[in-house]
Amino acid sequence: MARLDVTEIFHGISFPGHLHTQDSLQLALKFQFQETDILIASYPKSGTTWMQEIVTLISSRGDPHLSQTVPNWTRAPWLEQYYSAAVMKVPSTTPRFITTHLPHHLLGPALQRSKAKVIYVSRNPKDVAVSFYHFHKMAKFLPEVDSFPEFLTRFLNGTLHFGSWFDHVKGWTSQTVTLNLLHITYEEMSMDLHGTIKRVSSFLQCPLLEDELHNSVKHCSFSSMKDNQMINYTLIPDEIMDHSKGYFMRKGQIGDWKNMFTEEQNQYFESIFSSKMQDCALEFVWEKQD
Ligand code: A3P
Repeated sequence: MARLDVTEIFHGISFPGHLHTQDSLQLALKFQFQETDILIASYPKSGTTWMQEIVTLISSRGDPHLSQTVPNWTRAPWLEQYYSAAVMKVPSTTPRFITTHLPHHLLGPALQRSKAKVIYVSRNPKDVAVSFYHFHKMAKFLPEVDSFPEFLTRFLNGTLHFGSWFDHVKGWTSQTVTLNLLHITYEEMSMDLHGTIKRVSSFLQCPLLEDELHNSVKHCSFSSMKDNQMINYTLIPDEIMDHSKGYFMRKGQIGDWKNMFTEEQNQYFESIFSSKMQDCALEFVWEKQD
């Protein structure tokens, strides 16, 4: 299934047709979650793959075998992508690890009927926009992008594939009472990976011994993941991801937006951000703190 130029519009949000069909999206909304399921939810480029690696290593008690032999999309398939129906049918290990980029207003009803554990991963949106821009250049299943200012406007308007970052983050993070949800940020992972893995492992009721924790930290560092073919997307052929245009594991930094945004773009961003987030108390880390 190539469909590189196909866009599927679903409930007003566009999705890459290479990975999604109307049926696969519809099926996701009817998914029967089990109590033991663990769902990683995120807007693209927020640290999804990183969290997939973290939960794999926690469930393997720090042993990297699974994360070095099975691709991340098989270990924690995206619920809404077309190949997932087959993956989910395979009698799976318990718990099942599932990933989604769907917004809460679409997936919430299916989850409401379950006690599945949800890990929501967010990242400061300036870095998300920059990472997503670079990813558009290499991912041939995403629309071609021209200039960064145009891309930034579309990001802020919520018209890129996967919809509005604002709706996504506000939708999921407002559900801490209704869902069994742990909110983890990219910046927390970056500044305290050890502490974050500990928090996630206790949420998953899988506390680790100190050496297991140490091994988990080691294998999900940026440098280990950059070299791991099962997670760095180099298994994807050039026709689908043009590896000459960049790396999936690109920079892995907090505050890279500063290398891209002009002062004017930053002011524009800030004005939209403050108006769209005025009903939201979340705080973001915008640059690396010493
Ligand atoms: P950059 O493009 O800023 O480098 P997602 O998995 O949601 O698509 O997010 C991808 C982003 O997470 C990329 O950001 C990638 O480099 C970063 N990332 C993945 N694993 C990481 C790690 N171990 N440490 C730091 N950043 C990581």
